Amino acid sequence: MSLYSLIRPLIFCFDAETAHGLAVTALKSGLLPRCAAAEDPVLVSTLWGLRFPTPVGLAAGFDKNAEVPDAMLAQGFGFVEAGTVTPRPQEGNPKPRMFRLSADRAVINRLGFNNAGLEAFRAKAEARQGRPGIFGANVGANKDTSDPVSDYVAGIRALYGLSDYFTVNISSPNTPGLRSLQRQDALDRLLGAVMAARLEAHGARSGRLVPLLVKIAPDLSPEERADIAKVALKHEVDGLIISNTTISRPAGLHGPFRGETGGLSGQPLLKLATEVLGDMYKLTEGRIPLVGVGGIENGQDAYRKIRAGASLVQLYSAMVYEGPGLGASVAQELANCLRADGYANVSEAVGADWGA
Ligand SMILES: Cc1cc2nc3c(=O)[nH]c(=O)nc-3n(C[C@H](O)[C@H](O)[C@H](O)COP(=O)(O)O)c2cc1C
Repeated sequence: MSLYSLIRPLIFCFDAETAHGLAVTALKSGLLPRCAAAEDPVLVSTLWGLRFPTPVGLAAGFDKNAEVPDAMLAQGFGFVEAGTVTPRPQEGNPKPRMFRLSADRAVINRLGFNNAGLEAFRAKAEARQGRPGIFGANVGANKDTSDPVSDYVAGIRALYGLSDYFTVNISSPNTPGLRSLQRQDALDRLLGAVMAARLEAHGARSGRLVPLLVKIAPDLSPEERADIAKVALKHEVDGLIISNTTISRPAGLHGPFRGETGGLSGQPLLKLATEVLGDMYKLTEGRIPLVGVGGIENGQDAYRKIRAGASLVQLYSAMVYEGPGLGASVAQELANCLRADGYANVSEAVGADWGA
């Protein structure tokens, strides 16, 4: 029995957002025991010139202000994505705005990009320079911006050189209008601007450009998926993260909060997010590395995403139920799945469902 399962009843006495705040405070205190296991060669892969000790990462939204990336790496995550950060600090939506659906092993949130802004994020990112571990910066737009494109550009300019990769988040359901940036014309314009900003920020530095990934929603029609694939290939984005939370409500949810407005994540998202992932793998012909997110609770779920086309995976919601050591245990179970099927390395299993 894990330490987390012992203290879970106590943690669940608090509402979901308060419990999250307590978890971040505990992680900041440095008192949590390390969980990271010894490196397993079956899990090590290199992507964009970065060496991932395991392909199981922490998804955006847990560490919005880059306060605990190193603590989460020490918990055994193979990489950590902080954010979403917006140029100016903002409070987000009125509380309550985060709900546990324990019976469904799910979460609904409508936080609305509550975060301390780019300046504070930048200070945290600067302070950890030189430390080991892959650190991604997920950038977004302020709710009241008159020009969302310039908000993404500001994020890339301010953080260039301070993160190992960028995620352009155009898929939160809780910022009005944000998801419309996924439409073909809007995405074409946005990607043109952020790719140019990246090149300019790189300037005369040596080495490769900081990889730029785009995070998309699971609620996309077949036409919208095809359009995104086309534009992503055109702009040569380095990766797609699939997916953010869903505004759909799959049949059979039991939790009393199932009717709350917001994005649903956790176990009920697994099937939809993995289907979109597989679709995007086929639409991009395996030419863009994909990060599979949504509903991962164990090694089998992670393995399913990798076989569907993910080079890396991320998780968040299941950690609410299983604690911060989940990244390490999912990685270990994934290694067992890979070995059982005769793979020497995770990279060989990427897209295996499609005969790759
Ligand atoms: C409380 C909460 C806050 C989130 N905040 C963000 C965010 O700021 N930016 C983002 O790109 N995704 C955010 N997400 C989405 C997660 O990164 C992830 O894509 C989604 O929850 C699906 O994965 P999961 O089922 O493992 O949670 C958030 C998710 C939750 C549950």
